[in-house]
Formats: sequence, C-alpha cells, structure tokens
Amino acid sequence: MTTLFTNIKELIQVRDASVKKVSGKDMSMLPTIKNAFLLIKSDTIIDFGSMENAPTSADNTIDCSGKMILPTWCDSHTHIVYAGNREQEFVDRINGLTYEEIANKGGGILNSAKKLQETSEEDLYQQSAKRLKEVMQLGTGAIEIKSGYGLTVEAELKMLRVIKKLKENYNIPIKATFLGAHAFPKEYKNNKEGYINLIIEEMLPKIAEENLAEFIDAFCETGYFSVAHTDRILKAGVALGLTPKVHVNQFTTIGGVQVSIKHNALSVDHLEVMNPEDIKALQGTKTMPVALPSCSYFLSIPYTPARDIINAGLPLALATDYNPGSTPSGNMNFVVSTACIKMKMTPEEAINASTINGAYAMNLSDEVGSISKGKKANFFLTKEIPSYGFLPYSFGSNLIESVYIGGEKI
Ligand code: NIG
Ligand code: FE
Repeated sequence: MTTLFTNIKELIQVRDASVKKVSGKDMSMLPTIKNAFLLIKSDTIIDFGSMENAPTSADNTIDCSGKMILPTWCDSHTHIVYAGNREQEFVDRINGLTYEEIANKGGGILNSAKKLQETSEEDLYQQSAKRLKEVMQLGTGAIEIKSGYGLTVEAELKMLRVIKKLKENYNIPIKATFLGAHAFPKEYKNNKEGYINLIIEEMLPKIAEENLAEFIDAFCETGYFSVAHTDRILKAGVALGLTPKVHVNQFTTIGGVQVSIKHNALSVDHLEVMNPEDIKALQGTKTMPVALPSCSYFLSIPYTPARDIINAGLPLALATDYNPGSTPSGNMNFVVSTACIKMKMTPEEAINASTINGAYAMNLSDEVGSISKGKKANFFLTKEIPSYGFLPYSFGSNLIESVYIGGEKI
C-alpha cells in the first residue's frame, strides 16, 4: 500500500542514505525541499521531491499544506525502564541537598534499584511501556534503553527482559544497553572488586547468552566507577560482542573519554565537564559525543560545551537521558530547544544532532535519522508553522500534529 504526502511546506533532513552522521561545520547545513511530496510504501520511504514531480496517484493521499515533515527524533540515551519515581529527592534538592549528598545517603540510583528489585517484571513492563508510548507521541521514532537500576544478577536480567519485550511489542527500533556498572550496591561498598567480578563473571555471560543487549555502558565518574573499573568492564563487554556507549564527564573529567575511545566506543555521553585534551582525544575517532541538556537543566549543572565540540570539527548528538533521578523527561522537542537556548546550537545543528547523529549513536543510521529512500517511514508532521526554526523557538509548545512509525499514524 502506498501513501502520498502532498504540498508539504518544507520536507526537512532529506539526505542520501549513505550519510551516516554530520560533523563540525556540516552540522550547520540542514538539507530541505520546499513545497515537497513524500511517498511511502507500507513501512518504507520510497520517493520524495518537489511537488511538480509528485506522482499522480497513490492508494492514500494526505494533504500537508502549511505543515512540515521531519524524520522522527532519535533518542540515543535513555533509562526509561524504571520503577516508581524519585519525586521526594526532587523536593530534597529544592530544599538544598545536592544530587551527590542524596546519593551518599543511599538515595539516588540505589533508591531506584531498591524499588525496581521489589517490582514484578510485568509491573515494570507496564510502567515502562507507558513512558515509551508517551515519547513516541512526542516524536521519538528510535530509542536506546539502558539497564542499571537492577544491580543484582536477577534484577538486571529483569530490566533487560523488559526491554526485549518492548522491542517485540512496539514497532520502533529499540537498542538495549547493559549498565550493571551504574552504582555500587550497598553490600559491595567495601568490596568494589567483588561487584566488578559479579558483572564480568555472572551478569555479562548470561546477557550475552540470552542476547539481551547490544551495548555495554559504565558510569565512569568520581565516586562511582573508576577508569580502571571502566576499562575492565568495557573490555569484558567487547569480548562478548557488545559495543561500548559510556557515561563520562558528568561531574568530573577523570579519563573516561580516553578509556572509552580505547575500546572503540560508539558514543561518549554527558560531557558536561570537558577539558581541551578530552576534545582532542575525540578527533579522528568514530566515537559520537552525546549531550543531554535536559539533565543539565534538571540538576542545574553545566551544559555540555557544544560550541567547543562542533568548532573542533567533531559531530554531536543530542538525547534525553530520560530517567527518574536526573532527567524525568523524555521530550526531545524540549532537548532541541534547550540545546539552542542554552548551548548556542543553531536550529540546523540541533536538528542534525537529534536525528542523523542520534541514529549514528545507536548504530541505526541505515534505518532512521533522515528522509532517505529505503529508510523506515518514521517521521512526524508538524502543525502549521512559519519555519522549522519555530520548533526550538516555541519552547514548551507541542507543535507536532501526527507521528508516523513504520508508515502508520500512531
Ligand atoms: O545519566 N549519571 C548516571 N546515570 C543517570 C542518572 C541516574 C539516576 O540518578 O538515577 C544519568 O544522569
Ligand atoms: Fe544516563
């Protein structure tokens, strides 16, 4: 079955399917076609171009006058499988405690782990599916989801099985990341090697055997996992066929970027604190830097220095970090706005970072991230807007009229 979208005011992010990511100055270029058509056949984009070349017939025709079409957002960093919430910690922070102080009191990640361990797999699935549906309605059409709130063999497997079930039941590309190295459980506080051994000797082999994850992650940070710990974990993951995508430089720069690059990481994420050596280390690598501006917003911590990264010729991707502690929001529209407002990215750069570069950061550039022939028909139709820059400009407004996933309106 074919569907033809006609009179599209502007069709955004039209690219040859061979483009996998955009870097440096190229990020300021966003290819578009004004007064365009888009033709899809079942779940695939098969043609697009200027209206004067539009096909004359299709099984369905949808008139898009005054509206634009963009590829769906590619959210390459989330933790949407979690139990309950951490609203109380939000209030504690308003009243003066820091994120670090809350974590040191046994709150934070350990608080979420306790809740998740007590939640059944079915309940966890229902809570997580609700969030997935929510972000799809907000224009997300490909997503990465991490484990890391289990912290026991059983609970980490439970999280990853929930992700597997989401993959089976929802028609959007989902990638799973194993983040057993998210925090040290209380009982391993004085036996860090013991927990690293548990991850490497017990969790990882089971995950590989059941094929539950594509990526391996660690929270490489002062007070969490050291560079040496991260090195061991990434090495063990790579040996089992997992690709590193790593939490680094959120609060301190301790060599997380370098150890991730050593293991050919697909992405390094957070990067709120970057020194010139970190930026230099990324040059000439295939590793995608990923910024998470909603996390900076929610925790009132510095924003990733996007300008320094892009001006150094590097690519940059944007993602939400949707999780109960540092970013209880999965709204990529807010991410795009905040990147423009707080990180001085142009609308073109922010849209490239949230589509094609986000796809790259999940190894999904062949399937999603641009309007290209042969890619999945995952895109959204805007309401009537004067220009695409109006999307980040109108922060907080929902300017999406409808979302198509695999060619179907959701
Ligand atoms: O990416 N920084 C590490 N992990 C999450 C937050 C974890 C939490 O507070 O629950 C993040 O921000
Ligand atoms: Fe995260």
